[in-house]
Amino acid sequence: MNFKLSLSLIILCANMASFAQIQQKPISQRVDSVLLLMTLEEKIGQLNQYNDDWTATGPVTVDSDKAKQISNGQVGSLLNCLGAERTRSWQEKAMQSRMKIPLLFGQDVIHGYKTTFPIPLAEACSWDMDAIKLSAQVAANEASAGGIHWTFAPMVDIARDPRWGRVMEGAGEDPYLGSLIAKARVQGFQDEKLGGINSVMACAKHFAAYGAAIGGRDYNSVDMSDRLLWETYLPPFKAAVDAGVATFMNSFNDINGVPATGNTYLQRDILKGKWGFTGFVVSDWGSVGEMINHGNVKNRYEAALCAITAGCDMDMESRCYKNNLTQLVNDNKVPLALIDDAVRRILQKKFELGLFDDPYRFCNAEREQEALNNPEHAKIARKVAAKSIVLLKNENQLLPVSKNTKTIAFIGPLVKALKQNKGFWDIEVPGVDSNFIVSQWEGVQNCVSAATKLLYAKGCDIEGDNKDGFAEAVSVAKQADVIILSIGEKRDMSGEARSRSKIGIPGVQEDLFKELLATGKPIVVLINAGRPLVFNFIAGHANAILYTWWLGSEAGNAIADVLFGDYNPSAKLAITFPRSVGQIPIYYSHFNTGRPATGDANHHQNSSYLDESIFPEYAFGYGLSYTSFVYSDLKLSSAKIKSNETLEVSVTIKNTGKYDGEEIVQLYLRDKVGSIARPTKELKDFSKIALKAGESKTIKFAIDKEKLSFYNQKLEWAAEPGDFDLMIGASSDDIRLKDTFELLN
Ligand code: NOJ
Repeated sequence: MNFKLSLSLIILCANMASFAQIQQKPISQRVDSVLLLMTLEEKIGQLNQYNDDWTATGPVTVDSDKAKQISNGQVGSLLNCLGAERTRSWQEKAMQSRMKIPLLFGQDVIHGYKTTFPIPLAEACSWDMDAIKLSAQVAANEASAGGIHWTFAPMVDIARDPRWGRVMEGAGEDPYLGSLIAKARVQGFQDEKLGGINSVMACAKHFAAYGAAIGGRDYNSVDMSDRLLWETYLPPFKAAVDAGVATFMNSFNDINGVPATGNTYLQRDILKGKWGFTGFVVSDWGSVGEMINHGNVKNRYEAALCAITAGCDMDMESRCYKNNLTQLVNDNKVPLALIDDAVRRILQKKFELGLFDDPYRFCNAEREQEALNNPEHAKIARKVAAKSIVLLKNENQLLPVSKNTKTIAFIGPLVKALKQNKGFWDIEVPGVDSNFIVSQWEGVQNCVSAATKLLYAKGCDIEGDNKDGFAEAVSVAKQADVIILSIGEKRDMSGEARSRSKIGIPGVQEDLFKELLATGKPIVVLINAGRPLVFNFIAGHANAILYTWWLGSEAGNAIADVLFGDYNPSAKLAITFPRSVGQIPIYYSHFNTGRPATGDANHHQNSSYLDESIFPEYAFGYGLSYTSFVYSDLKLSSAKIKSNETLEVSVTIKNTGKYDGEEIVQLYLRDKVGSIARPTKELKDFSKIALKAGESKTIKFAIDKEKLSFYNQKLEWAAEPGDFDLMIGASSDDIRLKDTFELLN
């Protein structure tokens, strides 16, 4: 047997049992037997996570003796350490330590590993849980083959402010959709059960309310009522716990003056208490030490005390635990039981991953090559990318473009871009060609017929004010039957620490659009971005618009699939698109107010702006198809239900256009009178259905007490008797059918 056994196991073996017998023991017993043999310093080592020197995703602290610390058992985990070879070499160091406790390798595998998938916000727009799960599965397959045990994903932060650069990393604005996506991503990364060779541990982050940073400024404070926290920001985290997520990450922000990292209410009372979470919590990068800057603790000694007491088990990169916990225990400030609890949680996961049986089981160079070169992964990425593209406008059915169009002008700074398609969290896998990206040019070229003349001009850069390329672009456009213009953000304009106060299309790209528009040729605009941008002029004047986000390795093929009709777009926005920054925060599930907004600017009578519409440019749930759907025959099983009964709702959808297509049928509810005012609309269910041209289907929804409940005045989850509006629509602002029902006492 070539497995390396930990010291504890060797001792146990010698005493009483064979290795196989030990493997049969419940993990909790195996954890205890290891814990029993550990010194305080070794225990604290398990709570310490360092960055590898290869790359960094935060402010670096240089450690000349990292290797020595690892072989002394002073480090429990490394992040940003990739590849079977590199992870193996660090693991070998850990195996030199007295206890031979394996390292955990963590990595931000956010939207793919080698095969890059669409950014999470884009994938969320697919409303397709199977696709989202599959994308996480492929990422887990590749990452685990590259030695990774743990991804810092999914980010399940609700986000309603597109100035915040990290809107790209979550599932948008809605707690119901966000919760389903949290579950799908956790299940995708972790598979059925931890320990599978193709899966990694997931990490629900950032706990909590990080997405509500004031002003959309990353890392900023959050000021939030308990009700908003429970109703809107916590549900996706709870869904992740229910799906069996292995770990949580706390967050950089403070909530109402208490940093999340040192927040007992969040981590001990809610997460580990009320929700019974048995995994472990890691801090965000340096966030334990940053509590000094917040002004909540005086020094690093107090920071370590505050974080460990509040329930943060592992310290990412701040070194506060490593340098202060021994002293804190000796000073009787931190009970040993608290340290043991944190270590136990971490060891438990190392056992579940099978690392005590074989610390190198994920460091297999042969398997790595196979997984990273699996052609199936590109095919899946292409499908998921096509499902993430949102058709925002299609005047006179300009799209799909015919593959036999005589001349197409493909213009813009993103047409031939490579890396830009990958989005913020792309990963440079060592030894692998990470320029493995199908450009938009290549994708379109592959798709059109041999007779089509495809012309190109860059026009301008993404940023800057240089218009030298405009003349060439206009001359190319004039020769074409149709213009396709690809513009947007650079991939690193949204992401961590990428907040923007102006969220228009950068540089002179909108001016380029105006010049092209003046040619009078039909124009399709592709907008590539990590957040909702504001582009009112283009929205008003382009003939067709596809919001392509950042789609990953297969961007070019997926865009071509949609442009030329091989895939009929089906995505719907998971986040509201404002008309101007002044409208932010803007989201569909708002309250009615005492002077409800009607859209006319009659002040004193309604909650509106003098200088701006109250309506968004594109609402949550909005997205077009090349075909059309008619909704009919809304039926409710009863006009009244008791709280132990289920209301059955059925509706018929017909594809009345000439293309096969998919529709996301959305069900919203409004509780008309509540002890706490309820939003004018809340998404409570949806169904994504495929219909052939001319086909119709009847779909059913079930409404039970759970869907009618909310946090009442005492913050208890309960349903109150009374009347409800039920709305079925193609978008939150396109309700096609309505009815009412009553919940009885
Ligand atoms: C900071 C980010 O907030 C977090 O999401 C990420 O996982 C860590 N850095 C590690 O890269």
